[in-house]
Amino acid sequence: MESDDLEYILDHYKNPRNYGTIEDPDLSFEEGIPSCGDLIRLDLKLEGQKVKDVKFSGTGCAISQASVSILTELVSGKEIEEINVLSDQDMLNALGSRISPIRFNCALLGLNVLKKALAENDNT
Ligand code: FES
Repeated sequence: MESDDLEYILDHYKNPRNYGTIEDPDLSFEEGIPSCGDLIRLDLKLEGQKVKDVKFSGTGCAISQASVSILTELVSGKEIEEINVLSDQDMLNALGSRISPIRFNCALLGLNVLKKALAENDNT
């Protein structure tokens, strides 16, 4: 990991963006990784098919917390269909660092939770 990239991740871990909950979310989903016990919840407020507001809460390792913080910045104001096509590789690229494959589950936890929250939208 390059030191600048590491700084970027540590900054998001120490100063998470969009941390908290939304009182009356349009979509909300929570999921964890059983092997470590970490858990992420994402709340979304929509405006039409666009993400108007997004907040996350929960606990996790530095990589999971930083990646979900970065993710909230990435998807804020975006159309749902743009978010639905975000790939695992897009998320890994957004972290700006080469993440060890053994930490992929941590790095992708937020994106998985987000996709499941959006899938709930399709079911309503
Ligand atoms: Fe649990 Fe990373 S160790 S999410």
